[in-house]
Amino acid sequence: MKDRELTASPSSTARPVVTVSYAQTLDGRLATSTGNSRWISGPESLRFAHELRASHDAIMVGVGTVCQDDPRLTVRLVGVPSGSRDPLRVVVDSTLRTPLTAAVLADGAAAGTLLAVTERAPVARRAAARALGATVLRLPGDAGGRVELVALLATLHERGVGSVMVEGGAGLITALLRARLVDRLAVCIAPKVLGAGIEAIGDLGIGDLARALLLCDPRVTSYGADLVIEGRIAYPEDADDR
Ligand SMILES: NC(=O)c1ccc[n+]([C@@H]2O[C@H](COP(=O)([O-])OP(=O)(O)OC[C@H]3O[C@@H](n4cnc5c(N)ncnc54)[C@H](OP(=O)(O)O)[C@@H]3O)[C@@H](O)[C@H]2O)c1
Repeated sequence: MKDRELTASPSSTARPVVTVSYAQTLDGRLATSTGNSRWISGPESLRFAHELRASHDAIMVGVGTVCQDDPRLTVRLVGVPSGSRDPLRVVVDSTLRTPLTAAVLADGAAAGTLLAVTERAPVARRAAARALGATVLRLPGDAGGRVELVALLATLHERGVGSVMVEGGAGLITALLRARLVDRLAVCIAPKVLGAGIEAIGDLGIGDLARALLLCDPRVTSYGADLVIEGRIAYPEDADDR
């Protein structure tokens, strides 16, 4: 991408295939109640996560994850397929809270990072992020003033992104599921129990079990002591084609 500050103007709602992937404890926690999630999963499943990264055009996280974990979001542990680059890194960040010292903006990484913001992001911070080499994409706000996710995905699609892997955190995953914007789920379950902690998926407004989202044709694979369950998500109306 040559231009660094873009305004969203998608002409359709076509969007990339969206896969949500995260690691959780047996009791469904993404992190401790203090936000510590490193590392829930073991080294074998971490390698799987990097393989999954390598097979996507973009990796997306919410700004909460950037502030808490400061991830690099690059493909490591496995090779990037020849002829391709690290996936685009996308941070969903309405007011541009991403620290300018964050790993996704450090040491040349910024050139492969897109910050999805709204008008609420201060002009000076947008300029500072651009000066580091990041692409700043200004999007409409949703009813709560946060990044409008349909517009974000449509804009990414228009810019050639065919697949997005969403790595968290709980807030972004829950918002995408609520909006039915997730196609696939790949959940790593580690044999650990935390009790109190951050739940992987928050309220989806489901009061009736028959309305539960379903994982179709789930594939279960062991990686060391962890289990990874992957599959396509069916939302209630299309639950019958499982
Ligand atoms: N175990 C794992 O695999 C894993 C993976 C990732 C993260 N984590 C953990 O998850 C925790 C972070 O989760 P989190 O829920 O605090 O943060 P998050 O989901 O990473 O980010 C949420 C933030 O994204 C921004 N956002 C912008 N537009 C949004 C929209 N339309 N919908 C939802 N969010 C939007 C909001 O901040 P603004 O309003 O400021 O824009 C929101 O607070 C950390 O403890 C981290 O360690 C665990």
